[in-house]
Amino acid sequence: MDEAPRKVRVHHLVQAKQRGEKLVMLTAYDAITARIFDEAGVDLLLVGDSIGNTMHGQATTLPVTVDEMVVAARAVAGATRRALVVADMPFGSYEAGPTQALATAVRLMKETGVSAVKLEGGARVAAQVRALTDAGVPVVGHLGYTPQSEHLLGGPRVQGRGDAAAERLRADALALVEAGAVAVVLEMVPAPVAADVTQIVPVPTIGIGAGPGCDGQVLVWVDMAGMTDWSPRFAKRFGEVGQALHDAASAYAAEVRDGSFPDAEHSFAQ
Ligand code: KIV
Repeated sequence: MDEAPRKVRVHHLVQAKQRGEKLVMLTAYDAITARIFDEAGVDLLLVGDSIGNTMHGQATTLPVTVDEMVVAARAVAGATRRALVVADMPFGSYEAGPTQALATAVRLMKETGVSAVKLEGGARVAAQVRALTDAGVPVVGHLGYTPQSEHLLGGPRVQGRGDAAAERLRADALALVEAGAVAVVLEMVPAPVAADVTQIVPVPTIGIGAGPGCDGQVLVWVDMAGMTDWSPRFAKRFGEVGQALHDAASAYAAEVRDGSFPDAEHSFAQ
């Protein structure tokens, strides 16, 4: 077995920001992809509640449960050697207040092996971020378009446009940092606003649809790898893995049907 790589830890995130080194984050929902992305050098793996849309076939992230997050997060953390693994706190598992948030975070930390949790919202969840931080749980914030509030926000729409909205975003980012957040995801935010927030907070910002001025980037892996026909405008397809998988399944089906698989090489002799 190779020597274990040096694990990415929370203090490395601020160091990376200070050195101007970009942080790379991807979602992962199972052991196989976690191992591949970890070996590819991705710094942070997010067990996102986007598991609801991407893996569970749901229309939104809202139905995702803590039990579902525990299963996925345990698989990802167990398969990861270097990356810092962050688990999303799903909708309904922290909004009631610090006590509920702490119970959920303790469960995720105890039962999965992740190193941090993420929750959505700014000043409105600062008390939760403070309670978790005080309990020793690193928290990643999430501002801009927050999918758990998609019905209130009117669907996936850019947030932080206009002076007042940009000012609210800045205030929310500062409230999260003040409460102890170790990083802040900025989703679907105008690039200049995200760059501005990045300048004013001491912790890394991780953008998704927030332009190049953030300290790092995150993508949902199925978008990044081209698994689906459609992907959001901000999500570049770095591969066409969906097509490759389709081709492999078609070739397998054809060989089973014409009798060429299994052949002698893939059969056991007497
Ligand atoms: O759940 C998720 O995948 C996320 C990313 C979009 C940041 O929260």
